[in-house]
Amino acid sequence: MQKVRLGYVGAGFMAQAVHLPNFTALPDCEVVALAEMRPQLAQRVAERFGIPRVYTTHSELLLDPDIDAVAVSAHFVHQAQVAEDALRAGKPVYMEKPMALTVERAERMLQAACEGGGRLMVAYMKRYDAGIELAKQIIDDYRQSGELGRLFYLRARCFGGNWTAGNSGTVIGTDEPYPSAPLEVPEWLPERYHQSYTNYLQVFTHNVNLARWLLGAGDDWQVMSADLDDDGFTGVAVLKMGGVRVALETGSLAAHKWDEDTQVYFQRGWVKVTSPSLLLRNACAEVEVYRAGDTPEYLRPFPKDGWSWSFQREAQHFIHCVRTGEPFRSSGEDTVQDVRIFEAIYRKWLGI
Ligand SMILES: NC(=O)c1ccc[n+]([C@@H]2O[C@H](COP(=O)([O-])OP(=O)(O)OC[C@H]3O[C@@H](n4cnc5c(N)ncnc54)[C@H](O)[C@@H]3O)[C@@H](O)[C@H]2O)c1
Repeated sequence: MQKVRLGYVGAGFMAQAVHLPNFTALPDCEVVALAEMRPQLAQRVAERFGIPRVYTTHSELLLDPDIDAVAVSAHFVHQAQVAEDALRAGKPVYMEKPMALTVERAERMLQAACEGGGRLMVAYMKRYDAGIELAKQIIDDYRQSGELGRLFYLRARCFGGNWTAGNSGTVIGTDEPYPSAPLEVPEWLPERYHQSYTNYLQVFTHNVNLARWLLGAGDDWQVMSADLDDDGFTGVAVLKMGGVRVALETGSLAAHKWDEDTQVYFQRGWVKVTSPSLLLRNACAEVEVYRAGDTPEYLRPFPKDGWSWSFQREAQHFIHCVRTGEPFRSSGEDTVQDVRIFEAIYRKWLGI
């Protein structure tokens, strides 16, 4: 394969501010088609990014024989279906998180991949952040050497704040009506929690996905307790992942910057990563290591590829894996666990 010919679905905010600039900048990728249900927006965005073919629906785009892979960023009421159809059409698919709002839908997507021959990468950009990659390497090394003792705790805290850091770019808008679709939520969830469940999952799915990866826990997890406020968003859920206790501390803070960190505790020290505002280009997570002992020390290692943007590295990873056939670091088979975890947290909280 020469360049990967990418078909992109959805020309909204994330496409314009993040993914189209990133994919069109990659030397081994060519964005050859754009599907967008709002035709005027589609035309204007295609012109801005030099995309030659424009479709109104993703179904039309999937009939285009000259497309090697598909990427989608659409509202979560739309994008699971887009990804499912592309997987059934046999394409490698890059989709924005969350994979789905229900386990049932996520499993259907994996089934579509099995039957159609496609494969799914869910865009959890934190796994591609150079600082977080370095932190994972350090954690793995300490676990291997035993130098800091047993790893006994992971604290994942996200209170949000300003995620764009003034970096949204000049996004083209439209007054064409926004396409509607029904909200798909777990059938056991009472109606009054539909909105809060969606908000909780869609923000903190990043933290759950990252914690599982840092601990190498895969599908080894349990929800021990969940204590949320009436808003169904603020609180603490306690899980076990790979045998390690994990506290998921969540809330909403009107901060001028993004307020999120993940800290892994050993008996004689810790490794902490502080995430940047999501759209802050060329800034990775900050890493801090504390080592207790006779001469306690703090280390602040800076990764080799430190002046980089997680979203850009994530796009690179997708194209690399499409070219080489290598597995995705954040595959659909792995991410289905996050969808399961959120249903389990809410069931624990509501006692259902
Ligand atoms: N990774 C992150 O940190 C992060 C941050 C923000 C948003 N997101 C995710 O990004 C996704 C997209 O968000 P957004 O703000 O870009 O949404 P958006 O509403 O601005 O854009 C989505 C676009 O997709 C189009 N669309 C929907 N279904 C379509 C279909 N079947 N075919 C063609 N076009 C279709 C809509 O018309 C719309 O223009 C959301 O799922 C959200 O969870 C991720």
